[in-house]
Amino acid sequence: MKIISITNQKGGVGKTTTAINLGASLALYGKKVLLIDMDPQANATSGLNIEKDICIYHALIGKKKISSVIVPTETDNLFVVPSNISLIGAEVELVGHKNKEKILKNLLKEIKGFDYVLMDCPPSLGLLTINSLVASNSVLVPVQCEYYAMEGLAQLLHTINLVKKTFNPSLKIEGILLTMHDKRNNLSKQVELELKRHFPKHIFKTLIPRNVRLSEAPSFGKSILSYDIKSTGSKSYMSLAKEVLKYA
Ligand SMILES: Nc1ncnc2c1ncn2[C@@H]1O[C@H](COP(=O)(O)OP(=O)(O)O)[C@@H](O)[C@H]1O
Ligand SMILES: [Mg+2]
Repeated sequence: MKIISITNQKGGVGKTTTAINLGASLALYGKKVLLIDMDPQANATSGLNIEKDICIYHALIGKKKISSVIVPTETDNLFVVPSNISLIGAEVELVGHKNKEKILKNLLKEIKGFDYVLMDCPPSLGLLTINSLVASNSVLVPVQCEYYAMEGLAQLLHTINLVKKTFNPSLKIEGILLTMHDKRNNLSKQVELELKRHFPKHIFKTLIPRNVRLSEAPSFGKSILSYDIKSTGSKSYMSLAKEVLKYA
């Protein structure tokens, strides 16, 4: 079972889009995938047409077993531990917990039978993201191809290193994923070159293009593969899945 955090403290960079569609693509390749929604905004949950009162929050505070809050999605092989707005309380409520950074890691010991666990992190480096990083084998960092793309990356890498040193020495960088890429746009090209210069080993070959179908799919509660299999969005997330699977 490989556990991957999808993390960037910036909002709107494509974390949730990547969590849903990489998850659905891995599932299409026959892998059994669990997507854990760690964001109180619950966009991954609603984007897969799920709405639940009982969610990851109840597992984190010890009220429910995490296995009891797993729900199937409309996609075969893709399951979700949903979130809802109650999760907003967790950051504060768990502060006094003895092993507050390891709560999720301990919960995941109970999870069996999945090939991949993907964690959709909130746009912050707070306790929910730390729990996710501590519980993970690797981090996938979506970066939006825009002017301030690099801003915040140093801080994110610092946090990743801190987690490595303190709690999770084997944490790896799965890769940096360029999202909302527009090949006709010079800025996208510049961001791509700059990221390749700074992180030559860590950039996924797959670029996720800006594709309106990707932004429409969640309002229908569907992954891009269910919404429009022929779209460039579908093709790019399938190609990312191949890279993650090391088929590419
Ligand atoms: N490749 C893309 N092309 C077009 N729109 C995208 C793409 N990726 C994400 N979006 C849209 O951009 C917004 C932010 O993406 P989202 O995945 O929710 O980011 P995050 O989870 O990092 O906040 C959403 O409205 C989403 O539909
Ligand atoms: Mg999100």
